[in-house]
Amino acid sequence: MAYFVWADDMVIDNGLIDEDHRKLVEQVNTLHTATTEGRGNEIVATLLAQIIADTAEHLRHEEHEMGLAHFPDLERHKDTHQLFLNQLYQLQKKHQSGSITVASELSTALRDWLSLHIRRNDKELRIFLEKKRRTDRALVRALK
Ligand SMILES: [Fe+2]
Ligand SMILES: [Fe+2]
Repeated sequence: MAYFVWADDMVIDNGLIDEDHRKLVEQVNTLHTATTEGRGNEIVATLLAQIIADTAEHLRHEEHEMGLAHFPDLERHKDTHQLFLNQLYQLQKKHQSGSITVASELSTALRDWLSLHIRRNDKELRIFLEKKRRTDRALVRALK
């Protein structure tokens, strides 16, 4: 079984956000395989840099989508993204400075944060969009 398993309860928009999340899940699995197989630091560093870049892009993209949808809790959500990015940069720095224990922490930190954040925080967007769709439909019915 994969290290980080995608599950239906992680679905947010059946669209671009899910695509990003799925891609990140795959990348975490690739990183995990590389670290558990004890692959060279250079390979791990390259994979980590790619995940961080793609995560940062995803977070910006998700914030943009949330803005377009008028998601009410956007600022707080942005803060959680920023904290995570800071944590990733710190882990990257530790890895670059040659810490031997950090390699195994990388995939765990990524998996745990993404899994919890998607299921708890990103899920709020899904709930908000569903509520909005119901209100819009009710409005259309009332105007008929
Ligand atoms: Fe997300
Ligand atoms: Fe998010």
